Amino acid sequence: MAKARTQFICQNCGTVHSRWAGKCDSCGEWNTIIEEDPTGGIGGGPGKQPNRKGRAVTLTTLSGEIEDAPRILSGISELDRVTGGGIVRGSALLVGGDPGIGKSTLLMQAASALSRQGHNVIYVSGEEAVAQVRLRAQRLGAADTNVKLAAETNIEDILATLTLEQRPDLVILDSVQTLWTDAAESAPGTVTQVRAASQAMIRYAKSTGAAIILVGHVTKEGQIAGPRVVEHMVDGVLYFEGEGGHHYRILRTVKNRFGPTDEIGVFEMTSGGLREVSNPSELFLGERNENAPGAAVFAGMEGTRPVLVEIQALVAPSSLGTPRRAVVGWDSARLSMIIAVLEAHCGVRLGQHDVYLNVAGGYRISEPAADIAVAAALVSSLAGLALPPDCVYFGEVSLSGAIRPVAHAAQRLKEAEKLGFKSAVMPKGSQDVSEASRKNSVETGSLPDLVARIAGGTILTRERDEND
Ligand code: TYD
Ligand code: MG
Repeated sequence: MAKARTQFICQNCGTVHSRWAGKCDSCGEWNTIIEEDPTGGIGGGPGKQPNRKGRAVTLTTLSGEIEDAPRILSGISELDRVTGGGIVRGSALLVGGDPGIGKSTLLMQAASALSRQGHNVIYVSGEEAVAQVRLRAQRLGAADTNVKLAAETNIEDILATLTLEQRPDLVILDSVQTLWTDAAESAPGTVTQVRAASQAMIRYAKSTGAAIILVGHVTKEGQIAGPRVVEHMVDGVLYFEGEGGHHYRILRTVKNRFGPTDEIGVFEMTSGGLREVSNPSELFLGERNENAPGAAVFAGMEGTRPVLVEIQALVAPSSLGTPRRAVVGWDSARLSMIIAVLEAHCGVRLGQHDVYLNVAGGYRISEPAADIAVAAALVSSLAGLALPPDCVYFGEVSLSGAIRPVAHAAQRLKEAEKLGFKSAVMPKGSQDVSEASRKNSVETGSLPDLVARIAGGTILTRERDEND
């Protein structure tokens, strides 16, 4: 018979080790391996009934009747978009974010909005006492709704409470790190507890059709602490992010079994809670200094929505042997690549210069389409020449210095036009662009060409030629 033995589990990545070590081989983190007893427990798997005979299930075909996933809408459109058109009944969502970013605020607002729509919502707080949650609800103007509240952390007690109640439409558990079950021996917050507790709640959701939202704190590395093990169990993972010092908060879909994964919702944190920002471009362009060298407006896309942001670059002579490269809001490896292409193909020498790159408003860009906006900002700063203020940039740069077309050119141009931009620099051969927009934009196929235009102060020459 197998001997009951303890396991050593890394609290960062969930890897199981046979013995304790100071460093996890798998993720490289130090002091994250903890001894846990995985036997029994909801997450411990079977093991009690080795002699049980399996029950045959009926196999079926891929074609056949399907129902649309029934959804509950909160009426907070930024939230509904991110969930793919509402929270699906019987599904489990994980909302992750840094401590203090506003997860509890967001979910309390969602709870009260859903409750106002007539849905039955239960909010279980494991971190705050009832009085604290009430205080927040008052501040958010949610105190008069029918949201049911409990301050509890034990899974068995929570499940017992839920069976007594009329079936809820949504249960919010804030946070998954505080939950624990009698069946597992480890301390709350450990991988075993988090996994067991989440599994129990997900099973509850699937069997009753109530949706659940689990809140999880993330570590500095941006991973949901411990509960990275939860990410694969849930139907959707949303991250709530923002930069300290900025009021903007972005809710980003990382995983969604019922919708697209590249949507964002934008909010602003105010003294009365989170306010929806339905036109993020206006917000990100709000504090623009139009005549400063080193600033270029990037026409980006987030899922189905165009977003305009300003990219700021500062290139300054370096006194260091190895010049500094500092990036906020963009990929630093991508910046190195753009610098290399500028040096190799465009004769732009940045080897003796410090380079600082910042995306305005605490926004984070993940699209390669920002390449030429970054290049334009760098060259503009190095040359000390401001770019035309009413022009946007988008296009991907390849290692050969060619500028490649990107998707959704027409939508990007439309958003730019809506916000008063008159022209655009975009890749040659962009698809579905109307004749009118093509007239006002400059299509360029190579980065050396763009650099020459910036240095010569003739970026929009073609437009002027045609107007003359
Ligand atoms: P909270 O939702 O408690 O964060 P989390 O659950 O992610 O840890 O939000 C905490 C911060 O939000 C706190 O610093 C105060 C601020 N806040 C406001 O600015 N306005 C408000 O109306 C509320 C409720 C919070
Ligand atoms: Mg909280």
